[in-house]
Amino acid sequence: MASSDRSLNNQARFNQVAWSYYSPALSFFEVFGERLIESLGVSIGESVIDLGCGTGALTLAAATRVGGTGRAVGISAGMLEVAARRSREAGHDWTTYHESDIVDLEFDEEFDYGVCGFVTQWFDNLTTVPRALVKHVRPNGKIGISVWGRGSWEPHRTVFAEVLSHIRPDLIPKPGNINRLEKPGVLVDRG
Ligand SMILES: C[S@@+](CC[C@H](N)C(=O)[O-])C[C@H]1O[C@@H](n2cnc3c(N)ncnc32)[C@H](O)[C@@H]1O
Repeated sequence: MASSDRSLNNQARFNQVAWSYYSPALSFFEVFGERLIESLGVSIGESVIDLGCGTGALTLAAATRVGGTGRAVGISAGMLEVAARRSREAGHDWTTYHESDIVDLEFDEEFDYGVCGFVTQWFDNLTTVPRALVKHVRPNGKIGISVWGRGSWEPHRTVFAEVLSHIRPDLIPKPGNINRLEKPGVLVDRG
C-alpha cells in the first residue's frame, strides 16, 4: 500500500473537488487527453488502460477512439463517480472504472496502451507510474504520460508551495521532480 505517498494523502481533496474538476475552467484536461490519445495512434478495436483517470478526460477520449469493439479502463483512487456518469451519458458501455491505488493494481489483462495524465507528480518515486503502466501493457504496446512543463502554473505554484510550507510541508513537491519529468523516456530508463 502506498499510504506514505502524497497522492493518497490527497485523495479526500480530489474527491471533494470532483464535480468542479469536470468544468470549463479545467477543460485543458480534455484537450490534453484528446491530444495524448491521438498522438499515440489509438484506433478502433484496441484497448487502453488509464491510470489516475480522475473525472475521465483521457478514458473518454480513448473510449471514443477505440469504439464499441475496443475497451477503455479507468483506474483511480477517487473521483470515479463523475467519470462513470460521463461514460454512461456518452453510451460508452465498453468502458469500465475501478477504484484502486496505482501501486497495488493487479489487473488480469494486458492492454495495447497504458496512459496517465497529470498524476506522476503526486508520487515521491517518479518511476512508480511508468512501472505500473509497463506492467499492464502488452509487449510492443505503447505508454503515454502527460506532465506539467517547466514554469507552468507560475507564479501560482511558488505561492502555493510557500503556503503549504507553513501548513502541510509534507505535500510540497520535491525540488526538481517536475523538471526531471520533461524528458521523454527518462523515467523508464532510470530502472
Ligand atoms: C489530476 S487528477 C487526474 C486527471 C486525469 N488523469 C485527466 O487527465 O483528466 C489526479 C487523479 O489521480 C488520482 N490518484 C492520485 N494518486 C493515486 C494513486 N496512488 N492511485 C490511484 N489514483 C490516484 C486521484 O484520485 C485523481 O483522480
